[in-house]
Amino acid sequence: MYEGYWELSEKPFRKTPDPRYLFLNETYEEALERLLFAVEEMELALLTGEVGSGKTLLTRALVDRVGERYEAGMILNPRLPPRQFLQTVAVELGVEEPRFHSNELLDQIHERLLALHEQDRAALLIVDEAHLIPGKATFEEIRLLTNFQLDDGNLIAVLLVGQPELRGRLRHRTYRALTQRVGVSFDLVPLSVEDTRAYLAHRLTVAGAERMLFDDEAIGRLHAAAAGVPRLLNHLATQALIEGMARGAEAVDGAAVAAVLQDDFATEGTTSRKEGALLGARKK
Ligand SMILES: Nc1ncnc2c1ncn2[C@@H]1O[C@H](COP(=O)(O)OP(=O)(O)OP(=O)(O)O)[C@@H](O)[C@H]1O
Ligand SMILES: [Mg+2]
Repeated sequence: MYEGYWELSEKPFRKTPDPRYLFLNETYEEALERLLFAVEEMELALLTGEVGSGKTLLTRALVDRVGERYEAGMILNPRLPPRQFLQTVAVELGVEEPRFHSNELLDQIHERLLALHEQDRAALLIVDEAHLIPGKATFEEIRLLTNFQLDDGNLIAVLLVGQPELRGRLRHRTYRALTQRVGVSFDLVPLSVEDTRAYLAHRLTVAGAERMLFDDEAIGRLHAAAAGVPRLLNHLATQALIEGMARGAEAVDGAAVAAVLQDDFATEGTTSRKEGALLGARKK
């Protein structure tokens, strides 16, 4: 609908993690580089960031970059007790006919890792939403996985991905045996205003735009309201394009964004959303 008005070939701000739209600013690029390093060194790595900051998309980019040499397993919902967790790991890493008991599962996973090693391949396990892991017991299984080693190195790279509270949780003494194994740790920070501009421009270009469709004030307000979080930016930018079209505008301006923000539900909780609203109110 609004694609025609703005001369786009598709919708630029879908909320799905489409790798074609991957935007790599310095922060994302550094995160990716460090995670790649962790995988090559077969380390345990930790990636945290606010809701919607791009963690899952980044892990997909990582899997693409490490290539075929790695058997990559992705656990998207780790809210599992230890045995079921191990079962999912086994399936994800290509164990055929996983057994029932934890010990047997660990043996099967170990065999699988050795088999991969013999083929000059390696395993990468990504545990997304790791802040949802229910208790210490499941983390303990993860620790046991990182124990699978040969004289010259580990047999598996493990990446734990989660919201910032995961960090706080892992700081607890209970987890020190696991945290001592963390070789690389990265926290994704929100986009700056300049990055927000580049992010919006990048997505518009991929969607076929030949010019920037947001003016400076619009960008400033979008950035403040979304607190630099990409998923929120996507949501607001879509609304703003629709609003701009309804106004028959040539570009989305600050007033169009302010109108969108007035009754937006998704950004109500963000702190800078309030600041953004205040700024907007003061300007009126
Ligand atoms: N670097 C990026 N390049 C392009 N789009 C991005 C980027 N980061 C995030 N996005 C957009 O924001 C959306 C949310 O990203 P993603 O699902 O990776 O966030 P998340 O941190 O995993 O969120 P959650 O905590 O809810 O799991 C993506 O679907 C994508 O549309
Ligand atoms: Mg995610």
